[in-house]
Amino acid sequence: MKICHALLAAVLSLNMTAALAQDAHAHAPGHDGRAVLELTPGERAMILEEMRMFLAGVQKMTGAFGKQDMPAVAEAARGMGQKMVHEVPPELRAKLPMEFRQQGFSVHRDFDQIALDADSMKDVSYSLNQLSATLQKCVACHATYQIQTPALNTMH
Ligand code: HEC
Repeated sequence: MKICHALLAAVLSLNMTAALAQDAHAHAPGHDGRAVLELTPGERAMILEEMRMFLAGVQKMTGAFGKQDMPAVAEAARGMGQKMVHEVPPELRAKLPMEFRQQGFSVHRDFDQIALDADSMKDVSYSLNQLSATLQKCVACHATYQIQTPALNTMH
């Protein structure tokens, strides 16, 4: 525990990337300064597939907003909620920092809430504000992490 405290003290005044390095699975910054998640090609593919589902879902939502079709907004949002979460293999889970997983869960929870509110309030601008706040979490996570795989690293 002493070592942990010393580590904690050392990183307290540093930036977020440095702070993340105190995590049990150290995530050294990559060339662009973001923390690196070292994953296998299969694990990377799994995460990126989920990400593309997010982008596709957000695309559906914006189309529905354009038509002021709130049931369709709710449906697209719900598709990105908790029901999109599938079992994360334990080896992958062990490689993902706590903050990363929490941010991911929080985005899924947000979409469930957006779906509920879109159904009950049917208020385009309220829902758009919620979506914007959630997209801010996408932005924040992307600014913090990148994925690298040994296979890709040997290519350049
Ligand atoms: C908990 C962290 C996290 C959250 C939250 C998150 N992402 Fe990502 N996303 C990543 C990481 C890490 C990558 C890989 C980036 C890299 O290696 O440069 C990624 C990659 C992507 C990609 C590229 C997919 C590909 O095939 O290359 C898209 C698109 C994407 N995210 C969309 C989103 C959207 C939209 C949201 C929010 C609704 C979101 N992400 C939320 C971490 C996150």
